Amino acid sequence: MQYGYFDDARKEYVITTESTPYPWINYLGTQDYFSLISNTGGGYSFYKDAKLRRITRFRYNNVPLDLGGGRYYYIYDDKDVWSPGFAPVKKKLDRYECRHGMGYTKITGSRNNIETEITFFVPIDFNGEVHKVVVKNTGDSDKNITLFSFVEWCLWNAQDDQTNFQRNFNTGEVEIEGSTIYHKTEYKERRNHYAFFSVNAPVTGFDSDRESFLGTYNGFDNPEAVLEGKSRNSVADGWSPIASHSLDISLKPGETKELVFILGYVENALEDKWESKNVINKTKAHKMLEEFATAEKADEALKRLTDYWDDLLSRYTLVSGEDKLNRMVNIWNQYQCMVTFNLSRSASYFESGIGRGMGFRDSNQDLLGFLHQIPDRARERIIDLASTQLEDGGAYHQYQPLTKRGNDEIGGNFNDDPLWLILAVVAYVKETGDYSILKVSTPFDNDESKAAPLAEHLKRSFDHVINNLGPHGLPLIGRADWNDCLNLNCFSMEPGESFQTSTSKDGRVAESVMIAGMFVYIGKEYAELMKKSGSVEESIRAEKEISRMEKAVMEHGYDGEWFLRAYDDFGKKVGSKECEEGKIFIESQGLCIMGGLGLSDGKAIQALDAVEERLGTKYGLVLNNPAFTKYYVEYGEISTYPAGYKENAGIFCHNNAWIMCAEAVAGRGDKAFDYYTRIAPAYTEEYSEIHRMEPYVYSQMVAGKDAKRFGEAKNSWLTGTASWNFVAITQYILGIKPDYDGILVDPAIPKAWDTYQVTRRFRGDTYKITVKNPEHVSKGVKSLLVDGKEAASAVIPYAGDGKVHEVTVTMG
Ligand code: BGC
Ligand code: NOJ
Repeated sequence: MQYGYFDDARKEYVITTESTPYPWINYLGTQDYFSLISNTGGGYSFYKDAKLRRITRFRYNNVPLDLGGGRYYYIYDDKDVWSPGFAPVKKKLDRYECRHGMGYTKITGSRNNIETEITFFVPIDFNGEVHKVVVKNTGDSDKNITLFSFVEWCLWNAQDDQTNFQRNFNTGEVEIEGSTIYHKTEYKERRNHYAFFSVNAPVTGFDSDRESFLGTYNGFDNPEAVLEGKSRNSVADGWSPIASHSLDISLKPGETKELVFILGYVENALEDKWESKNVINKTKAHKMLEEFATAEKADEALKRLTDYWDDLLSRYTLVSGEDKLNRMVNIWNQYQCMVTFNLSRSASYFESGIGRGMGFRDSNQDLLGFLHQIPDRARERIIDLASTQLEDGGAYHQYQPLTKRGNDEIGGNFNDDPLWLILAVVAYVKETGDYSILKVSTPFDNDESKAAPLAEHLKRSFDHVINNLGPHGLPLIGRADWNDCLNLNCFSMEPGESFQTSTSKDGRVAESVMIAGMFVYIGKEYAELMKKSGSVEESIRAEKEISRMEKAVMEHGYDGEWFLRAYDDFGKKVGSKECEEGKIFIESQGLCIMGGLGLSDGKAIQALDAVEERLGTKYGLVLNNPAFTKYYVEYGEISTYPAGYKENAGIFCHNNAWIMCAEAVAGRGDKAFDYYTRIAPAYTEEYSEIHRMEPYVYSQMVAGKDAKRFGEAKNSWLTGTASWNFVAITQYILGIKPDYDGILVDPAIPKAWDTYQVTRRFRGDTYKITVKNPEHVSKGVKSLLVDGKEAASAVIPYAGDGKVHEVTVTMG
């Protein structure tokens, strides 16, 4: 069942009912100011850091769902009170529609001949959110209504705001100036920052104290002030400051009024001291309000925002016979990659914004998906990440976005981490041709005195694996590899310790076949990068180490029909047919085969067949099988999850993509694309009542076949799934791969496909690539014509002339 539809021309998903199976959200913001907004206006905003600079309040896990805070509007129409975005009043609307677009959301609601359309967006280079409100009288008699706005301020530190009431109920301070309500509570330090909420018209009244507005025991759905149609003009003093305006609006039949509300954030220089505690320096706010003094200015800013997105999305475009595929590749997958770049894992409807910082492995993998859109920011991100690397090549597992410092509480020892940095840098150099990044002097552990060229960081990453090998010559897993919940060293943790906080101790020998596969796959990329950048000896050294690892994997890491997952700390096999449960895991199959292991002797195909047979379901591939049904102290967290959820045999959409890539490497385009369609959001749209999450973005996990709620997704938006699926479809299946000297064309597609076109902007040139498949094969490029001339290999040579080049690829 569907709850809306895709409007591809506008790059929007149009939700046609307020009762979606779960709040379906969107993100506003491109740089520093970000907002989450649900299809009924729920959500919150923050500046740079969702924990430390939370602007508006939102209650997670609230009942009813998604009524824990948002930007709320109310209409008082002759004692009838309703909300144009449905929430929070939830009164039946004659018409409701929510359009989630690229960085904006437009919600329309009408009732009793009043139609209200609100467009929410964060303009480019603006630390605030615009709500353009259009109210129209669609009836044939005069209307006199009162429009109320509402936001609730968060006292900046979102965690403290939810816990430290003995303090915080005393600190709230506001200031009113015309139609602007300033929130100027200080938070334990003099930062000289404030937020404001304003409207570009004179107001009838206002409120800034929550209790005065709602009434002590009322909810957002029935504020006393709105029920009476009259603001209290309250000025908050402690407790919970809010900002609400009321405006009396008279409309003749057919008449329309437009208003612009601005929710903004200002950070003054510290020395630009408040004149006194009661008067803040408002110069910047005034300027921001001036920028949006009229509705036309808001429209122009929205146009600039859509142009910005059109430009970003134009760097890889596809025309194929499949609408669902086109909209994933051209619009939604790329959009999700950018959101993941901006937000990492900080703030979604499943991530509270106060939990995690930037993950080392996560951010390196995210980069693979947004790199072609914003290579400069990718470069910056790479240096930030590498600066948190430790001298032995290991890395802090997370760092804080505001300070960019490694998080000491979590530390390092996740032994897959260092390799992802290599992959990110390789992808960056292939995309940009910018080898100079390898020379950038980059600190270890954020300590400038320990700086070394980035190339040295990569070497240490590579060596971190070979310096940490176990008894079978396979990489030690450390606290966990990509699978955070496979904690093979956890059985000797101190009581109360978790895998996140434990430090690995001597004598721990658990080994990861997955890291071994990564080492072969990413190591080969490293060796090639070294060769390309002139470090031939290093390249030869790397190749030797890789051969050694290949041998170790084929000797000790293959279990007869598939790749093992690991050896536990007792030297027992994990992910083997000998195991009672968890006989096969997905990760090692994907990464070993991506590294080319088992391709020459049929073992890769055998493993992939085992994946389909044992892990395959109609909703995607489960992570392991059989699911763990009891707790195994030697495996840790994975076996604490109920069967079919999360890392215990859930469908982890992230590593489903590795199998797509592996199938493509093995030449089986039909299988690769089949797996792609099982989890790509646009393909889940038709069973949204089962899947429940947004049909326009990936979720981290879908409940697996062992789960009671098989097919139900959770944790949408902020997941490495976005970038890996983008890589799988664009580079491995459609086969358009950026390479050092041009674009490598190597499709692995369903045999039935006849043709498709990809337009790829690459280092300033544009390549219009038409792939033809007259013989209906899955793999193999027979000829490649660039501007009518036959190319020497399957690589489109980089021209570097800034021009458009026509490329015809014939498969066969
Ligand atoms: C989740 C993992 C996640 C980890 C991060 C675990 O509870 O199952 O998916 O990687 O938390 O800390
Ligand atoms: C989510 C985490 O962010 C990521 O780092 C991890 O690899 C996966 N979960 C799998 O555990």
